[in-house]
Amino acid sequence: MTQTTFSIVVAMDCQQGIGRDQTLPWHLPSDMQYFKQLTTTTQDPERQNAVIMGRKTFDSIPAAFSPLPNRCNVVLSRQDHQVVPDPILQFKDLDLALDHLSEPSQGIESVFVIGGADIYALALDHVGCERLYITKIEQDCQCSTFFPRPLTAFSLEQESERHFETGLSFTFAQYCL
Ligand SMILES: NC(=O)c1ccc[n+]([C@@H]2O[C@H](COP(=O)([O-])OP(=O)(O)OC[C@H]3O[C@@H](n4cnc5c(N)ncnc54)[C@H](OP(=O)(O)O)[C@@H]3O)[C@@H](O)[C@H]2O)c1
Repeated sequence: MTQTTFSIVVAMDCQQGIGRDQTLPWHLPSDMQYFKQLTTTTQDPERQNAVIMGRKTFDSIPAAFSPLPNRCNVVLSRQDHQVVPDPILQFKDLDLALDHLSEPSQGIESVFVIGGADIYALALDHVGCERLYITKIEQDCQCSTFFPRPLTAFSLEQESERHFETGLSFTFAQYCL
């Protein structure tokens, strides 16, 4: 098994809900900004970060925002044919994706697993999962898709002050396994 490490990035409501009807049930511009900065910023200007997502999450991203810019976009799918356009990479397995991203020629600095529920479950079972960046929304947003493990399984490292936007309150938290 590959030793490539990665972090999970997720926004969840107070029921650990992450999505509804294949989309996000909230609109939080400051969380989108946080996500963009976290997943894009590198220490080495010659390198990029990678984001790994499930095929359904990929499908949920509006075409105007896909691929997520200045990041290597990776989609996991069990399908034999190509379901994503170039330059997005497609793999059948998380380890295959991590092995590819760990090749020095790829110039990848950090890897982030960005959902959805199926792919979070894979990531949480993987030895390379080191850290979780969790936007914790304090309301119940009536989700139909849920993060697959309770927060009590992780250790809180730090948490921001409370933010307020579009009628919701939330914090930015960092957990380790
Ligand atoms: N709140 C958040 O931070 C956040 C983040 C991301 C997504 N979401 C939400 O989550 C929902 C989507 O999550 P989801 O769980 O339904 O779908 P998903 O995890 O995004 O994608 C599921 C797909 O990934 C592929 N897949 C699953 N397991 C695999 C494996 N072991 N190997 C290779 N490929 C595999 C399959 O694609 P094929 O069917 O092509 O084989 C599967 O249908 C949406 O509502 C989205 O808005 C929320």
